Amino acid sequence: MAVRGQFSNRLGFIMAAAGSAVGLGNIWKFPFEVGQGGGAVFVAMYLLFCFVLCFPVMVTEIAIGRKTQRNPVGAFNALGYKNWNFVGKLGILSGILILSFYNVVAAWAFGYVFELVLGNFAIGDAFAAGTYTSDIVKIGAYAIFFMVATAFIVSKGVSKGIEKATKILMPTLIVIILFLVIYSLTLDHAWEGLAFYLKPEFGEVNGKVVYGALGQAFFSLSLGMGALITYGSYVSKDDNIITSATLITLMDVGIAFIAGLMMFPFVAYLSGGTMEGVEGGAGLIFVTLPGVFESLGAAGAVIGGIFFLLLSFAALTSTVSLLEVPVAYVVDEKGVKRERAVWLTAAVIFLIGIPSMLSGGYSEFFSKFITYVGAEKATDFLTFVSDTASDTFLPLGGLLITVFAAYVWKKNNLNEEISIGAPNYIGSFVSKYISFAIMYLCPAVLGLIFVLTVLGKFFGIQVFG
Ligand code: PHE
Repeated sequence: MAVRGQFSNRLGFIMAAAGSAVGLGNIWKFPFEVGQGGGAVFVAMYLLFCFVLCFPVMVTEIAIGRKTQRNPVGAFNALGYKNWNFVGKLGILSGILILSFYNVVAAWAFGYVFELVLGNFAIGDAFAAGTYTSDIVKIGAYAIFFMVATAFIVSKGVSKGIEKATKILMPTLIVIILFLVIYSLTLDHAWEGLAFYLKPEFGEVNGKVVYGALGQAFFSLSLGMGALITYGSYVSKDDNIITSATLITLMDVGIAFIAGLMMFPFVAYLSGGTMEGVEGGAGLIFVTLPGVFESLGAAGAVIGGIFFLLLSFAALTSTVSLLEVPVAYVVDEKGVKRERAVWLTAAVIFLIGIPSMLSGGYSEFFSKFITYVGAEKATDFLTFVSDTASDTFLPLGGLLITVFAAYVWKKNNLNEEISIGAPNYIGSFVSKYISFAIMYLCPAVLGLIFVLTVLGKFFGIQVFG
């Protein structure tokens, strides 16, 4: 078997895993999901899911990875449950699908750096009209660049590639985002934006908000597809999994939360406090922000450029982790050399992403790919892949992972693995909670929401709300 890499220390792992978690999910998707989910209620739901449901899944994934030192498919084999490795296969499929469209959104964001620095504030209108996303030559070039950058980092290996890149990119990202929050809070109407974001009106909870928040929690924390089984497989035995998972969750949730603090004052500023346009969906950042930057005059070009650079950096540490999952599989299970595995996998995923790239207006067929039962409008291919892979497969993967850990591998084996590096774990409150969560809470809630998501999203059957 090929030699496997390792993170050089605990900080390296935490940075890489937080880098995976913090991405377009936090800065692009979170604000627009909040906008569509009616504001603070969605935020509350999301926070609850992250800590109560997702945290135990995260700990379980890392523990399985560290125990077996394998990719998601090999991990189930190594534990002796070959007939469960379909969970790993589903995860790898999810990773491939997610990366295929994620790279396209990353390409849009990366392109914005140049547009804004050059003072092209009309780009927001171009985005809204579909002329930006359908400029296939430009977007194609950015997308190739982004995939090549990702593959380059992954090809350098775990410590010299992934860890090194995240150790530079993550602190830079934190500095930029803090700067932008402070800046946005000084704008007119900032408080109206904050009120929308933070003042809950519980009348608004419905099925859509609930499953949207769950999908977002899984996506944002990179859970349910074995990304953390894979990263966990490069962790040393003396790391404390509980502390690491806590820090990763806090960083991810913290940055999503801060991204909201930045975004909603921007929307309030532009709408004169009415919050009109906040439901802008996938275009929220791309359509709204150029207008904000324009009104800031010359400084706007710089601040706008910096913002989209931030978004690109956040995306890059996530694409790296998305690529690492199938690569680890090909390296471990098929014995392919790392370099080769990386470039081959990246090329295949790029090809799979082409329909997503064409679904931004270039191809009528992919732009109006499918109409869900009961829906008024057609859904484009990119959104369809995202609905399927991130909102559906990830919670399903999380469900299967907890059922496996609780009833097949057995909770005592899980607890034993966690306790290595965490001497006070056995018998602690956290260990009791995690056992309870993986045995009852996660399977029940994830199972229920999975069914509701599939019915509600694809078949138009809203069981409640
Ligand atoms: N968590 C990443 C984000 O928020 C996306 C991602 C999902 C990365 C699953 C890896 C695995 O952007």
